Amino acid sequence: MTAIHEKNKVAAPRPETGRGSKNGAEAVSDMNDRALGLRGDFPILSSTVGRDKLPLVYLDNAATTQKPRSVIDAISGYYERDNSNVHRSIHELGERATALYEAARERARLFVGAESADEIVFTRGTTEAINLVAYSFCAGLKPGDEILLTQMEHHANIVSWQIAARLFGLVVKFVGITDSGELRLEDYERLVGPRTKMVAVTQMSNVLGTVNPIAKIAGIAHSKGIPLLVDAAQGAAHEGIDVASLGADFLAFSGHKAAGPMGIGVLYGKREFLERMTPWQGGGEMIRTVTLEGFEPNDLPYKFEAGTPNVEGAVGLHAALDYLDSVGTDWIREWEKVLSERAIAGLRSIPGLEIFGSARERGGIVSFEVPGIHAHDMAAFLDSRGIAIRAGHHCAHPLAQRLGVVSTARASFFLYNTLSEVDFFIQTVDEARRRLS
Ligand SMILES: Cc1ncc(COP(=O)(O)O)c(C=O)c1O
Repeated sequence: MTAIHEKNKVAAPRPETGRGSKNGAEAVSDMNDRALGLRGDFPILSSTVGRDKLPLVYLDNAATTQKPRSVIDAISGYYERDNSNVHRSIHELGERATALYEAARERARLFVGAESADEIVFTRGTTEAINLVAYSFCAGLKPGDEILLTQMEHHANIVSWQIAARLFGLVVKFVGITDSGELRLEDYERLVGPRTKMVAVTQMSNVLGTVNPIAKIAGIAHSKGIPLLVDAAQGAAHEGIDVASLGADFLAFSGHKAAGPMGIGVLYGKREFLERMTPWQGGGEMIRTVTLEGFEPNDLPYKFEAGTPNVEGAVGLHAALDYLDSVGTDWIREWEKVLSERAIAGLRSIPGLEIFGSARERGGIVSFEVPGIHAHDMAAFLDSRGIAIRAGHHCAHPLAQRLGVVSTARASFFLYNTLSEVDFFIQTVDEARRRLS
């Protein structure tokens, strides 16, 4: 174990309530021990980076998380034992691969709390899931109908609707945000009208870390008979998901941001909506019959899964969801809260540094800027010390405009990050400030 991953001996941060009966510092120290233990499940975390072979400090988890051994093994095991196409081959491997693919769907159903596996559509990720709904749902709307988004959305939850608006003559409106980075909930009352046909919102902002009051927003939308789509790209692995308590009619997340592989994601959609929606891609598997005159679509969820699917991705996602549930999303949320509170407190002590967003409810994402130092220079300096963060607009141009910045530096945490890593990160940001400004 390298120096910065050593068990942290410094005083733990201010205790939060709800961390058991131990005193706060002890409870935090126990959580840190658990995170240190969990690191062993992730082979990449023991690797080194750069010419000087520095220990990797991976704080770019909002971009993608690292993968545990169980996910890597599930994917290679699938190729070593079971690989075949699904839903078509009448032979043992074909049946095995189909069973694995459908077992992954059932696992995803359980993870999101859907009533039926028919309501789980596999996609390439959050982006494709939202594009699917934006096209297929909006194809049934009338020109002049409205879609209500927010100013803190990722481009995936903006541009998909803007494309649909161009195709179908719709109007896209936006709920604003306060200076502390929270949604202006009063905007919903003002902007939801008789033409509003969909409300879509992110569970957690990938820039500000704000966790939005989804159930409250669902209440507003549902009181007017409008469905709600939740972008859970940043929520799935960190906040946990239960579509019933969130009040989500649609929900999208990506495997790769939840300890799973890239190229696989989940769209949950309530049966009553999915049944009415038109297929969005044509090809094998999504049809029941085809003639030269036309086609009859397949049943749910296959109607939305044209072509050969990402079977190894689904198998890897199954293992990832097992892993997350074995750690516990409540624990992950609580630990990331400890890490981000410590990071925020440390960053606040750095002269001139600005943190974007101070929402009351926030997750493990912290965006910041040191005036006079470009976010890319900050990221490059941290990289020279082995610390991986993200710098840029984070695919949220409208939010960057609202914040009045071109780019920010962003650190984002996951279950395997430790107190020592956070401390090393803060020290290095301060060193960058001294050396680069
Ligand atoms: C809030 C949010 N929505 C959507 C996406 C898009 O996810 P993907 O690129 O996995 O489709 C991201 C990715 O960063 C995100 O943070």
